[in-house]
Amino acid sequence: MSLFYQQDINETTRLGVWKIQEESSFFLKEVPLHREITHPHKKRQHLAGRYLLKFLFPDFPYELIRIADTRKPFLHNEQYHFSISHSGDYAAAIVSSTQRVGIDVELYSDKVMKVMHKFLSAPEHELINNKEAPPFITETLMWSVKESVFKWHGNGGVDFREHIHIQEFGSSSSQDHLKILFSSDPLARLDVFYKLFEDVCLSWVSSDHTG
Ligand SMILES: CC(C)(COP(=O)(O)OP(=O)(O)OC[C@H]1O[C@@H](n2cnc3c(N)ncnc32)[C@H](O)[C@@H]1OP(=O)(O)O)[C@@H](O)C(=O)NCCC(=O)NCCS
Repeated sequence: MSLFYQQDINETTRLGVWKIQEESSFFLKEVPLHREITHPHKKRQHLAGRYLLKFLFPDFPYELIRIADTRKPFLHNEQYHFSISHSGDYAAAIVSSTQRVGIDVELYSDKVMKVMHKFLSAPEHELINNKEAPPFITETLMWSVKESVFKWHGNGGVDFREHIHIQEFGSSSSQDHLKILFSSDPLARLDVFYKLFEDVCLSWVSSDHTG
């Protein structure tokens, strides 16, 4: 069993990160595969993400998962909200019976540097420049946080630089977080929480908050 990290966010919301060391056959004992995935590693990533859903909430109904036009998976009876992410040998999932959720796991990489101008505004660049951290870590975190908000929103039509504004590093909570202004309709103020591991960062948002 390769559970890498698990956190109960509150009574109704849990998240987990799996370090993928198993073959597909391990996950397929539990998880139905709804579509053909030929690439072996992508298949294991996909299956590990789904595996976590039931790992976190044993009554999670795989058979009720549907895929929206935006490609967001959801339960048509809304028994749970959930979000999935994978990067390298990691898969992450967050599941909540009460709140909308979004999650992202991201290996630290220099690739993010090439697209920074596309997803960060000038004040966000400044925020990074004022933060001391080894190379790529804060940059990857910024990307991850925006991916989490994108998934929390779930309806597409989001421009990372125009609509998701990272305002500051939070200081009032025991859990590290970033304060976000999401200029959707209605405007949303969100705290996106995060954890920095040795080679990967994890971010998540869990909120009904829209004002
Ligand atoms: C949808 C998206 C977030 C998925 O990201 P990804 O790089 O494939 O990475 P992840 O592994 O973190 O996420 C994949 C999972 O997200 C979920 N997902 C897919 N589309 C989704 C959507 N529209 N909303 C919420 N979740 C979605 C799925 O569960 C998927 O995993 P699965 O197919 O195995 O179930 C990404 O493709 C995307 O569109 N990002 C926004 C792009 C963008 O606007 N960029 C601007 C840059 S300047």
